[in-house]
Order: sequence, then C-alpha cells, then structure tokens
Amino acid sequence: MKTPQKATSNNIRKAAKILAAGGLVAFPTETVYGLGANALNAQAVDKIFKAKGRPSDNPLIVHIANQRELKMVARDVPEVARKLMKKFWPGPLTFVLQKTAAVPDNVTAGGKTVAVRMPKNKIALALIKAVGCPVAAPSANLAGKPSPTSAEHVSEDLDGKVDMILDGGKTFHGLESTVIDVTRKKIEILRSGAITAEMLAKVLGYKPKIVTNKTGAKGKVRSPGMKYKHYAPSVPLFLIGISDEKKMVRLLQKELVVLTKKKMRVGVLCVKEHASFYAAAKYPSMKKIVTCGSLKKPKKFAQELYNALRKFSKKNVDLILAENIGKEGIAHAAYDRLSRAATKIL
Ligand code: TXA
Ligand code: MG
Repeated sequence: MKTPQKATSNNIRKAAKILAAGGLVAFPTETVYGLGANALNAQAVDKIFKAKGRPSDNPLIVHIANQRELKMVARDVPEVARKLMKKFWPGPLTFVLQKTAAVPDNVTAGGKTVAVRMPKNKIALALIKAVGCPVAAPSANLAGKPSPTSAEHVSEDLDGKVDMILDGGKTFHGLESTVIDVTRKKIEILRSGAITAEMLAKVLGYKPKIVTNKTGAKGKVRSPGMKYKHYAPSVPLFLIGISDEKKMVRLLQKELVVLTKKKMRVGVLCVKEHASFYAAAKYPSMKKIVTCGSLKKPKKFAQELYNALRKFSKKNVDLILAENIGKEGIAHAAYDRLSRAATKIL
C-alpha cells in the first residue's frame, strides 16, 4: 500500500482506519500534500518526524474538520480569530493559538501554542471526519525538499516510509498555507500564502505585519520552520531578485554568459513568455529550461512552482537561474519560497 491510491470513499475509509490505529497517511489538501497522523497520539506523531527526517523543534499544523475539534486542541480563541475563521475557513489560513492539554508536546515542539487549520479539500475533510479526531500534518516531503503538489511527489520522497498515500491529483494552490499568530495584540503573518496581507486587512482594518526576521524579541524564533533551509531543489539556485521585467531578463542573460565561461550546465526557471530569451542556441550553458506560469498568471506560477523545481536534478544541471514574478499578493508567497530555496539572490 505504498504507491499512491485513488482517493475513493473506500480508500478514505481505509486511510482513516490506519490513522486511528496510529499509522501514517499522506493526503491531498488545497495547498500541498500533508503527511498525517492522529494529532492526539504522541507515538503516531513521532513517526511523522522520523519519516520526514524533520527536526523535533519544528512544530506541526493540526488539521481539523469542525468546531468540536478546534475546541479539542485550542483554548482562548480570540474574537478576531473567530471572525477570520468565519471568512477564510475552510481554507489556506493557519492560526497559531493557545494549546489545550490534550495536544502532545511533540506536535507543538514543546511550546504552549498550536497551529491549526481547516483545509478546503473534500478528500482531506472527509478523511479527518472519518477519523473523528484532529490530524497533525506537515507537508509530505522529506525535510528540506520542496513541498509535494502531487501524489507522485509524495511517493518520490516517502515511498516505503508511510502506510498509505491518497491520490487526489494536483493541489489547487501549490504553496503552503498562510500562517498567522493571533496570540498577540496585533495579528502577524509568520508565513505568507494564498491568503494575503491585503485580504486579511479587509477583515482586520489594518494590514498585518509580515514577520520576515527569523527571531523576535530575546532571540526567540517566532516560526520555527522559517529557520530551516526549505523548498530547495537538489542543485544550487540563484534567484534573480529584480522584478522589473526587462532588467530581470537582462540580468539572467548576463548570468548565462558568465556561467558559459565557467563551463557550468545551467537550468533556467522562467515564465512561459520568456523561454525564447534564454535559448540554448544563443547560450550554450543553458541545458534545461522549465517554464512556470506567466507574469499575467501569478496563481499559476505559484501552483506550478514546486513541480518545476523538482524537474531539475544533479543529472541535468549544476545550477538553476530562476526568475521571479513580483512581490505583491500571491507573488509575495512565491517570492518568499524561492528566496528560501536560493543559495544566492542576484
Ligand atoms: O498548507 C499547509 O500549511 C501544509 C498542508 C499540509 O496543510 N502544511 C505545512 O506544514 O506546510 P509544515 O509543517 O510544512 O509547515 C508548518 C509551519 C512551519 O513553518 C512551522 O514552524 C509553523 O508552521 N508552525 C507550526 N506550529 C507553530 C507554532 N505553534 N508557532 C509558530 N509556528 C508554527
Ligand atoms: Mg513543510
């Protein structure tokens, strides 16, 4: 039962049984695939860390299907958080809340807060409902690799390490959920995603700050996951940081010339409409081009990004040069992930 299995109602029932018995199931959500275990069973949760090779100081997100489950894992939910839940749940918004005693320490990496979200994916919701308890699930990739946006990605990383992989096709957003901390006076974004600061501002009346610094007051890490190297393809990546279209293209072309002299095999990640600008005929160092969305379709860029990154490997290139598609809205989240995957920003 290691290769992906279609998420039929029969297989969802099987998956729920595995989770109830303390096993691991990878399942689709609207963001990326998650690697699930019963969130109230510390031993089951421990298996997640082992399978992913995840450091134990990086807490997990608890996935719920209803208010009853929210009560099981979180307490003192602020009024403003409830307002946001009403607007954005089910959906790609994760809340950092005060945890209840029922949540095992390994879920929260020993902390007093717990991250919770209600996913907007029929398979994920049906699975959580069938188990009847909250499901802890980080992205279903090996630690350090890009998050999986298809069941094939999960199986590439975790085949043989999980009890079941439910296949629900490609995920809708392609980037992980927005994480917000609602335990303080002013809400802050710890990780950007499809629910943008602008969307949150409409409910809050102020634009929440995006916490970009890795540590807060007294050197305390606010979002533990952010201190790790993430989303990285298997070869070094240089991100072109300029967003002005012409300047970005020129800089990437210039880099291709430099790398030709160094006899490097270069991979290019760019929007569809730019592919011809980096043709191998003109730039002999260019060995593989992968196109991703277009400047006019930032949502598509976000959706395809991780799949695009997985197409490069040591076998075909020594280095990747990647375009960016701007820094506003969903493009902000894509830029954030690319810059974390990058060895260098040019
Ligand atoms: O879209 C998603 O959020 C996906 C799907 C599967 O739901 N899950 C996901 O989980 O991306 P993961 O474990 O890869 O990322 C969880 C992030 C990490 O950056 C972690 O540090 C942060 O959430 N986090 C979890 N609990 C936290 C807490 N109590 N306080 C602050 N950050 C927390
Ligand atoms: Mg992850």
